Amino acid sequence: MPIFAANWKMYKTFSETSKFIDEFKANFKSFNKSKVEAVICPPFTSLSKAAEKLAGTEFSLGAQNMNAEKEGAFTGEISPAMLLEFGVKYVIIGHSERRAYYNETDASVNKKLKFAMANNLLPILCVGETIGEREAGKTESKIQNQIKEDFGGISEQDAEKIVIAYEPIWAIGTGKNATSKDAVDVVNFIRKTISEIYSKPLSEKIRVQYGGSVKPENIVEYMKDETIDGALIGGASLEAAKFIKICESVL
Ligand code: PGA
Repeated sequence: MPIFAANWKMYKTFSETSKFIDEFKANFKSFNKSKVEAVICPPFTSLSKAAEKLAGTEFSLGAQNMNAEKEGAFTGEISPAMLLEFGVKYVIIGHSERRAYYNETDASVNKKLKFAMANNLLPILCVGETIGEREAGKTESKIQNQIKEDFGGISEQDAEKIVIAYEPIWAIGTGKNATSKDAVDVVNFIRKTISEIYSKPLSEKIRVQYGGSVKPENIVEYMKDETIDGALIGGASLEAAKFIKICESVL
């Protein structure tokens, strides 16, 4: 089933979150949970408000990051147990902004994936190449390395629970979305890599999203190909009407 996740990044205060979710619920009347999954990933400070407003709805709550330790002296960090109390279901792991600005590596991403699953949180794992890597013909080797290292030591049973978001870094927040052909090619390559590590059935079953300047105007192109199972959306998910339109592309 396609999954659309709103990654709000460092946008929206507690009160702005409240307003967004009221508008989202009031206007998303056509939602059909047997056809699509919609996840909202607000900043940590908005999780309690989002949890309260989403309670009893068909929409899921996600977080944008988590620490890979249970608890301890880690100033500024958030543990899985803290997320679970708000009913958080998904957690974005290894977003390129975290890899670029907060020194996250494939080793730390791997640790987080394992700890998320040990705590029954479903990871949305982000992978993708820079523009330099794409131009140098290194897209596939970059993605293959990320997938191999990020999934290292994870059982097939656990791997099945991971949603992969293919997010070319050059397409994030730039307005320059990948063509649907480029996205389909890389998503198919991700499936091939998963089939080499695990099995063909898992490579067909695992959900792989596209992310990078997704908007209501371009989502239909991506969703035409069955290999793409939804999207991770930044900028366009900050407006309820746009996020609804994106989710409605498969209804
Ligand atoms: P964007 O961000 O939709 O604003 O390009 C996507 C993301 O970073 O997940």
